[in-house]
Amino acid sequence: MSDILVHAEGGITTITLNRLERKNSITSAMYGAMADALATAEADAATRVVLLQGHETVFSAGNDIGDFLNQPPQGEASPVFRFLRGIAGFSKPLLAAVCGPAVGVGTTMLLHCDLVYAGDNAAFSVPFANLGLVPEAASSLLMPQMMGYHRAAEALMLGEPFFAEAALEVGLVNRIVPPTECNGYAQSQARKLAAKPLSSLVETKRLMKKGQAAPVIQQMTDEGAVFQRMLREPAAREAFTAFMEKRRPDFSKV
Ligand code: COA
Repeated sequence: MSDILVHAEGGITTITLNRLERKNSITSAMYGAMADALATAEADAATRVVLLQGHETVFSAGNDIGDFLNQPPQGEASPVFRFLRGIAGFSKPLLAAVCGPAVGVGTTMLLHCDLVYAGDNAAFSVPFANLGLVPEAASSLLMPQMMGYHRAAEALMLGEPFFAEAALEVGLVNRIVPPTECNGYAQSQARKLAAKPLSSLVETKRLMKKGQAAPVIQQMTDEGAVFQRMLREPAAREAFTAFMEKRRPDFSKV
């Protein structure tokens, strides 16, 4: 079965991360499939809402670390950047249902969703610094804005997880539900949106986001340039190699 499932029904396109054996970590091919699904949903007049979801035990372990080592993204046309620009610029309502770990891009993609529902087992983390990397998806702009500088600095510099209640408190999620009900609850909220006039929702979203649209793209571009450079530097290589070898990284020499 495919690592990304795309199901369109009743005006709702549901994109499911489906690579459980690797904790829904995201490969280049998966970013490409999600970017394509978003582009199709954007262009298709019958699509009114998109829902991103994982499994009740895990949303996503973030970027596939083997991919980081073996085929790091190169340039703005890379599937990961296509996906990030796709979620940042998506004009229709975008929802997410998040249970279990949401690591790296598993958390930062949520900053671009309009409504986020979390299982009470959700654990959000943005451990870029632990990997010798920097934030992406404009999270270095959007997280301080959302939660305040110090909480964002703690999340982005210490890289430790924060949990569903904390995410609710800072406004990253709308509601906490039992994990077994999370995808279904998000689907029911998507159905409510799909029944409303799409033009009204699209214009409401555009008006709420228009002041941020250009700064977000600029921040993504700036982050992307640093991120791609740092992927090839010794600290990141050590972090990825240590992960693959199931040992703690040794940054004493980098
Ligand atoms: N890339 C590639 N493989 C990954 C992965 C990733 N991001 N995350 C998990 N996997 C693999 C593991 O290596 C393991 O493979 P194995 O069965 O061959 O040993 C398998 O998925 C299961 O993961 P495991 O770590 O045993 O699951 P867990 O439930 O104990 O922990 C996580 C889940 C998500 C907390 C943990 O896997 C993790 O921290 N992953 C890395 C997250 C990360 O740093 N992502 C990059 C962010 S930029």
